[in-house]
Amino acid sequence: MFQIIFLLSLFLSISNAANQDFCVADLKAPDTPSGYPCKPAATVTVDDFAFSGLIAPGNTTNIISAAVTPAFVAQFPGVNGLGLSAGRLDIAAGGVIPLHTHPGANELLIVTYGHITAGFVSSASTVYVKTLKKGEIMVFPQGLLHFQIAAGKSGAVGYVVFSSASPGLQILDFALFASNFSTPLITKTTFLDPVLVKKLKSVLGGSG
Ligand SMILES: *[C@@H]1O[C@H](CO)[C@@H](O)[C@H](O)[C@H]1NC(C)=O
Ligand SMILES: *[C@@H]1O[C@H](CO)[C@@H](O)[C@H](O)[C@H]1NC(C)=O
Repeated sequence: MFQIIFLLSLFLSISNAANQDFCVADLKAPDTPSGYPCKPAATVTVDDFAFSGLIAPGNTTNIISAAVTPAFVAQFPGVNGLGLSAGRLDIAAGGVIPLHTHPGANELLIVTYGHITAGFVSSASTVYVKTLKKGEIMVFPQGLLHFQIAAGKSGAVGYVVFSSASPGLQILDFALFASNFSTPLITKTTFLDPVLVKKLKSVLGGSG
């Protein structure tokens, strides 16, 4: 009797394990703090686990002369539940990925072309900066403000890996100057000069 129960429970745990190999996101359902619900296994194909969207360079004709192309769960449903995702950075000469944070993930940068000067600021307000060449990597701990700049005249390319399928992205200057955060409140909460705040808002499209 015990053996039968043992075998039965073994069988059930094996079939459960098979169910939990992956949970490809059903992007038609709403995202939740624990990820998207799984799409039915019968509808999953290899294309859910592969992504071609990082082959093409991003368009760097913009105010930052740089582009971030995400392969987060919203673009790449196979990473749902796997605790990782990726992205591509294209930074034209003189371009910058401005100070930003990923509230939900650590980041690993791999430089694949050119040189990137990258840095982050710790909670103790220590600044860690290094210029990386092709093949070098650097990590940016979760939640900390960090940046990447093309060093040199050729522009640069890098790939990034995140420790979450939904790392999130908050760009400091966009939060302040591309939003409807009122100028008096920004001035009060950042100690910045209102003339500078208004100037940056007019460049980045903020209001208030
Ligand atoms: C890149 O973006 C700029 C500005 O939005 C646009 O004018 C240009 O056509 C885009 N280039 C490509 C190749 O999509
Ligand atoms: C900013 O805009 C959003 C959406 O339009 C609105 O919900 C919010 O109340 C606004 N905030 C302020 C401080 O005006």
